[in-house]
Amino acid sequence: MKNIILTGDRPTGRLHLGHLVGSLRERVKIQESGNYDEMYIEIADAQATTDNYGNIEKVKNNILEVALDYLSVGLDPKKVTIFIQSEVPELSDLTFYYMNLVTLARLERNPTVKEEIKLRGFNGSIPVGFATYPISQASDITAFNANIVPVGEDQLPMIEQTREIVRSFNRLYGETLVEPKAVLPQNERCKRLPGTDGNAKMSKSLGNCIYLSDTSEDVKKKVMSMYTDPNHVKVSDPGKVDGNPVFIYLEAFSEDHHFKEYFKDGEYKNLNELEDHYKKGGLGDVTVKKFLYYVIEETLKPIRERRAYYEKDIKGVYKMLFDGSDKARKTASETLHNVKKAMGLDYRNDEELLKEQMIKYNNK
Ligand code: TRP
Repeated sequence: MKNIILTGDRPTGRLHLGHLVGSLRERVKIQESGNYDEMYIEIADAQATTDNYGNIEKVKNNILEVALDYLSVGLDPKKVTIFIQSEVPELSDLTFYYMNLVTLARLERNPTVKEEIKLRGFNGSIPVGFATYPISQASDITAFNANIVPVGEDQLPMIEQTREIVRSFNRLYGETLVEPKAVLPQNERCKRLPGTDGNAKMSKSLGNCIYLSDTSEDVKKKVMSMYTDPNHVKVSDPGKVDGNPVFIYLEAFSEDHHFKEYFKDGEYKNLNELEDHYKKGGLGDVTVKKFLYYVIEETLKPIRERRAYYEKDIKGVYKMLFDGSDKARKTASETLHNVKKAMGLDYRNDEELLKEQMIKYNNK
């Protein structure tokens, strides 16, 4: 079987370190491994309208930001197809038929959607478009015959919903669609990066993000004012590293060579040694934060450089997106064709149907 990978993001803001840890790094790794046949990355603007229908401007403007972020982390349009969801209208057609296979009760059980409904204040008056976006996401995935979907944990209910749709469709209309599998980020401890304020999630609406496109000064300000262990008041106090965002970030981004470069006298050779000292007491937050700032800067420097390069050719970035969308559209229309054919909806090419009905009406 072919390995086809599909994943995507809603263009509602610039991408941040949480995205880098949660999915972008994984995508680049897969890309560099070359261990796949096709890889699609969708900028899910249509899905983003389901909770931003009053602010399309925001969605529209962030398509470019997300594309620049993709390119800046090293995703290569020669190796992956980056496309805009609304440029592939076949996806909506697929959604229409998949809707028959899902009940309202099933949609209401989706834990991620439930959470989002609470967050968006939709309680009691949920727009149908929003309620059904998991079905449209099943179209995103199946349209490309994707069998691998690298995502964060919060997307697992969407993949499960997709698998159910695939099974129902294949059972009813014959083997047509591919059942996908989710792939989660490998490092348990940084599956989800907390915000700089200690909140469980880095999220634009909480204002606790470090963006991939932040300047060095932004990063410094944000890191130096990060939430740490509130009981670590004096330098001599023993500190907690578990659940301490500064240490979670170090776990996510530091490598042994950073210790060698930064601690020139060999004070700490790796994260374990730094953590041990913090736990014992005698290591101040400022020292750790300065080191974290260094590590994040080392991570972001090449990303910033690539971004600056692509920012010089916005026209070229849009061309890349439209070329990708054309390619995606070709694949999606093949799938739509197969889906309609399996369902018996391809009247144009159905000679059998024409023959039968001509006989029925005595045509010669
Ligand atoms: N729902 C995803 C998010 O909010 C974005 C998305 C849309 C997606 N279509 C997808 C992710 C298909 C994976 C596969 O981040």
